Amino acid sequence: MSGVFIAFEGGEGAGKSTQARRLQNALAADGYRPLLLHEPGSTALGDYLRAYLVDGRALSSPAELLLFAAARAELVSRVIAPQLAAGGIVIADRFAGSTVAYQGYGRGLNLAQIAWLNDFATAGRYPDLTILLDIDPAIGMERVRSRQPELGIASGATPNRFEDETLAFHRAIRRGFRQQAADSPAGWRLIPGAGSIADVAAAVRGAVCPLLAGRPLPSAGAG
Ligand code: TYD
Repeated sequence: MSGVFIAFEGGEGAGKSTQARRLQNALAADGYRPLLLHEPGSTALGDYLRAYLVDGRALSSPAELLLFAAARAELVSRVIAPQLAAGGIVIADRFAGSTVAYQGYGRGLNLAQIAWLNDFATAGRYPDLTILLDIDPAIGMERVRSRQPELGIASGATPNRFEDETLAFHRAIRRGFRQQAADSPAGWRLIPGAGSIADVAAAVRGAVCPLLAGRPLPSAGAG
């Protein structure tokens, strides 16, 4: 039985990481063994590239796109594909949809080329469900700036390269995410991210439940 692949997408301060972790904990409490991944990262190469992509100095947009794709290719082939092949559950905090939104709508790179590159990097393995936590960037950026610990955002961190971008950039990204959700109603679920953590978590559970219905709990190894 092939596994279940769930991705969280959304702009800065939407609460993705908090909700991804909550979902992991909820599924673990049910007896599953979900694997939680965060892009870019979750492999040695991904962690290495993260220093350039997120925390580093300015990059040309084509180089930025290719490095995100390289990090994803490594993650899919070394971690995600084997976990799914073993029947496990994967929860990804960002995936290919972020590249469409940030490098496509944000940086203005060619969407058809990004689609090709995403196909190549993922070997065509896209999430069974992508949960878009949708939030007005003005609110999301305010959350990031104030780094509210109750939203799971660490205090004292310095803004990364993307958080430093203009509100117009973040509005373009939101458009990119919403367009992807509108284009793939079966594979994407838009959940407003402005609600309380508990309300958003309940909506996430509601969206994920049908995917797991009738699925046996793991006996050993896979989750
Ligand atoms: P991170 O600190 O992990 O923030 P977040 O919690 O919002 O994921 O930084 C990841 C940054 O990289 C984030 O600003 C979005 C950006 N990004 C892209 O531009 N393209 C991509 O394909 C991915 C995966 C992330």
